Amino acid sequence: MPHSGRSAASRDWWRKADIYEVYVRSFADGNGDGIGDLAGVRARLPYLAELGVDAIWFAPWYPSPMADAGYDVADYRAIEPLFGSLDEAEQLIAEAHRLGIRIIIDIVPNHGSDQQQWFADALAAQAGSAERARYHFRPGQGAEGSVPPNNWTSEFGGTAWSRVSSAGRAQPAPEAPRGPGAPEAAGEPAEWYLHLFSPGQPDFNWAHPDVRAEFADVLRFWFDRGVDGFRIDSAALLAKDPSLADLDPGQAGGEHPYIDRDGVHGIYREWRRIADSYPGERVLIGEVWLPDAERLTRYLRPDELHSAFNFDFLCCAWDAARLREVIDVTLDSHARVGAPATWVLSNHDVVRHVTRYGRADTAFSMSDRRIGEPSDRELGTRRARAAALLTFSLPGAVYLYQGDELGLWEVEDIPDELLQDPFWERSGHTDRGRDGCRVPLPWSGKQPPFGFGPEGSVPWLPQPTQWKDLTAEAESGSDGSMLELYRAALRLRRAEQALTSADIRWLASPAGVLSYRRGDDITVMINLSAHPVGLPPHDKVLIGSAPLQGGVLPPDCATWLRTRQCTSGDEGFDRAAQGSQG
Ligand code: GLC
Ligand code: CA
Repeated sequence: MPHSGRSAASRDWWRKADIYEVYVRSFADGNGDGIGDLAGVRARLPYLAELGVDAIWFAPWYPSPMADAGYDVADYRAIEPLFGSLDEAEQLIAEAHRLGIRIIIDIVPNHGSDQQQWFADALAAQAGSAERARYHFRPGQGAEGSVPPNNWTSEFGGTAWSRVSSAGRAQPAPEAPRGPGAPEAAGEPAEWYLHLFSPGQPDFNWAHPDVRAEFADVLRFWFDRGVDGFRIDSAALLAKDPSLADLDPGQAGGEHPYIDRDGVHGIYREWRRIADSYPGERVLIGEVWLPDAERLTRYLRPDELHSAFNFDFLCCAWDAARLREVIDVTLDSHARVGAPATWVLSNHDVVRHVTRYGRADTAFSMSDRRIGEPSDRELGTRRARAAALLTFSLPGAVYLYQGDELGLWEVEDIPDELLQDPFWERSGHTDRGRDGCRVPLPWSGKQPPFGFGPEGSVPWLPQPTQWKDLTAEAESGSDGSMLELYRAALRLRRAEQALTSADIRWLASPAGVLSYRRGDDITVMINLSAHPVGLPPHDKVLIGSAPLQGGVLPPDCATWLRTRQCTSGDEGFDRAAQGSQG
């Protein structure tokens, strides 16, 4: 039975929402072409309702040449034909709403696709034209302009500039354009254009009024169709230093030529006014990767974005002291601006946490994915279960990535020739990229395609045969499965008043153990140490990530306890049961 407990009108729903990321091409394939689609999602909405999520966030579903899996948008007002149609999207939104699930869609404002009409117009026009002013076109350096305009590098590797060829087509860097100097107008050397990601993703010039007007209109287009919010891609990158000066690695927060410039906030203030002009609390969620919590929460001031992903939490090692610090800094910095904290373990850009937590070094860095590094899957899974109870017990909103609830791991042995992520090519085959967390979901059956598509269809990336034990069908109703843990935890998260309170109270606990009080009657314990620990006095075990043997919590396990009586800071752990610790 779906348990959509929160009504569509409930205020501040986003402050404590559980939001599930659907990566459309890998979720479910309705027509059997191997690529996930909206028909597949519609058929699985009851599954998501039963899981108990409040909202779905869709990775980009727009028409795209897929230079970066849809993050290169060719038309912001339509649906990628491989995924379905606008009509179907509208039906999906209505069906989700009927199930009590809100819809958040990705918007990609930093860059478009090189196949977008505006960019075609810019290439066809000349240097200095109004068409080129919507992007960042510049002459190159050096005698024939053959050196990129500055030293910025693409997130995917290599220079962030590509040169326009004489044929009016973009040339991928680093190859030189055809012909010396490639004149576009008589005697003029060809210009370069900026792309902080792949050459297929030219950056927009946000100082240009057309760009601002266009995106304001796109927001309205989708709000008018009932979407409940936007996840804003690369939200900190939009404002550029107009001089496009070289990057100096020593620059501090606010001085970087394109990351987190102060000018970006005016854009989101305008967007917030648009969101607020619609009924029913439409939300803006920023993808803001910043090392400084204070700089991050500037985006969350009351007249800007509602919420942002907590990447410090995602990247944090499986270590009690470090996690506690991240939790404290998060709660404190968000409280200062009145924004809810958020908690996220995985998404479509990072190594799945089952795999991360099974490694010797459990921290994550975007610049060093370490694909293929040894990982203990059994350990990683045990920790992922405990991590789920950690995240679901914290105050604020939680983001889940499709497949988290099945305990999927990173697929690290995708054959080279099937890799699609631009990281692979652009890094000169040193970074295997993000395909390993984007492998199509296993739904049912004993062999691929595991119900992802109809029998006999071939998913766009191959699924491991061992996923036969991790299908939604195999895990449903199976005691001790990740899916049942997620369902139970999400149910409790809704039902227990204590878990909706705004803060947590840390309790004294042995080294390597996180223990805190939620509300009046729940104590949470996560044992990240190598030893079993005794439980404090309690009335009842509400949930555990593993069976609690003899009243102790094993290593890498978590539990939520009903502890009505306990009120003091030191809740009297059963120290005798702490075993050989010391
Ligand atoms: C964001 C997306 C990522 C994409 C990039 C460029 O980081 O999450 O998948 O490659 O932006 O749009
Ligand atoms: Ca399909």
